[in-house]
Amino acid sequence: MSEVQGSPPVCDYEGTDYEAFWRAGRTYEDLAERIALRALLPPQGHRLVEIGAGFGRLADLYAGYEEVYLLDYARTQVEAAQRRWGHDRRFRFVVADLYRLPFQPGVMDAVVMVRVIHHVQDVPRALQEIRGILRPGGIFVLEFASKRHLKAIFRYVIRAQSWSPFSLEPVEFAPLHFDFHPAWMRARLEEAGFRIRRERAVSHFRHPWLKRLIRAPWLARMDGWVQEVGALWKLTPSVFVQAEAGPMEGSRGEGLWRCPACRLPAVEQEEAVRCPAGHRWPREGSLYILRPLDEMAV
Ligand SMILES: C[S@@+](CC[C@H](N)C(=O)[O-])C[C@H]1O[C@@H](n2cnc3c(N)ncnc32)[C@H](O)[C@@H]1O
Repeated sequence: MSEVQGSPPVCDYEGTDYEAFWRAGRTYEDLAERIALRALLPPQGHRLVEIGAGFGRLADLYAGYEEVYLLDYARTQVEAAQRRWGHDRRFRFVVADLYRLPFQPGVMDAVVMVRVIHHVQDVPRALQEIRGILRPGGIFVLEFASKRHLKAIFRYVIRAQSWSPFSLEPVEFAPLHFDFHPAWMRARLEEAGFRIRRERAVSHFRHPWLKRLIRAPWLARMDGWVQEVGALWKLTPSVFVQAEAGPMEGSRGEGLWRCPACRLPAVEQEEAVRCPAGHRWPREGSLYILRPLDEMAV
C-alpha cells in the first residue's frame, strides 16, 4: 500500500509478478474479458489511455488507435508493459496516479480500466478525474468486481458470509479490495457525468470444476454468448460497462500533458515534461514518470 499526503491510499503492484497471476490457470477469465472489451471498445480512434494497465495484458486490442498510453502507478508494471509493447511506436508508458491524471481536459477519445477500480477507495474522485480527460462523447470502458454474484448470494443464504450482496454500499473484503453493487456503480458513473450505453456480465463460468471440465477457449466462447443477456440481471463476479462522457464543463486543453502537482498545462521536452510552475517530470524515451517517486523531490 502507498500513501501520498492529500491522496487516498493506493494498492500499488510495485515489484509484484502480476504476469504469474495470469499464468496460473486464468486463460478462461482472460479470454472472456477480451470478448467483452472487444465488444464495448470502439475499434478505432485517435487517443486511448488504459489506466492501471499493469504489464499491458490487453494492449493488443488497441490496434485501431493511433496513440496509446499505458498508465500505471507501479513503475515496475509500466516497465514490464514497455518490454512487451515498446517496439510499437504508437505506445507510450506512463507512471502516474489515477487520482491525478497527467492529461489535459478532453484530450482522450477512449479510456479503459479493467480490474483496477476494485482497489480504489474514493470512486467518485477517480470517476471525476477520468471524466475530465475524455472528450464529450468519448468512451469509458470500465470493468468492476460485483458483490451481487451467485456465489456471494449462496454464501449469504447459508450464513457463510456476514455482508449482504444485496445492500448497495461497497464491501471491503480485504484492505483496498472492494466489491461493488452494480446499481451503486451505475449511480456513481451517472453522478460523474457519464451515460451508460451498454453492459456485459462477464465470467459466468468462473468455477474450478467447470474450468477443469471444459477447455478455456470453449468456456470463454460460451461466456461471450451470454454476456449481453446476462447483463439484464448481472449475477457474475465481473461486470463491464460502456459509458459515454457527457458535455465538458470547461474547454479542451491545447496540448496533451498536465502537471500532476499544480495541474497547469505542461510541455514535453527531450528529457522531461515541464510546467510553468517549475515542476519537472522525467522522461526516458517512451517512458514518462508523472508522479513523485520516493527518490524524487518535486
Ligand atoms: C489487478 S491489476 C490489473 C492490471 C490490468 N488492468 C489487467 O487487467 O491485466 C491492478 C493494477 O492497477 C494499478 N493501480 C492501482 N491503483 C492505482 C492508481 N491509483 N493509479 C494507477 N494505477 C493503479 C496497480 O498498480 C496494478 O498494476
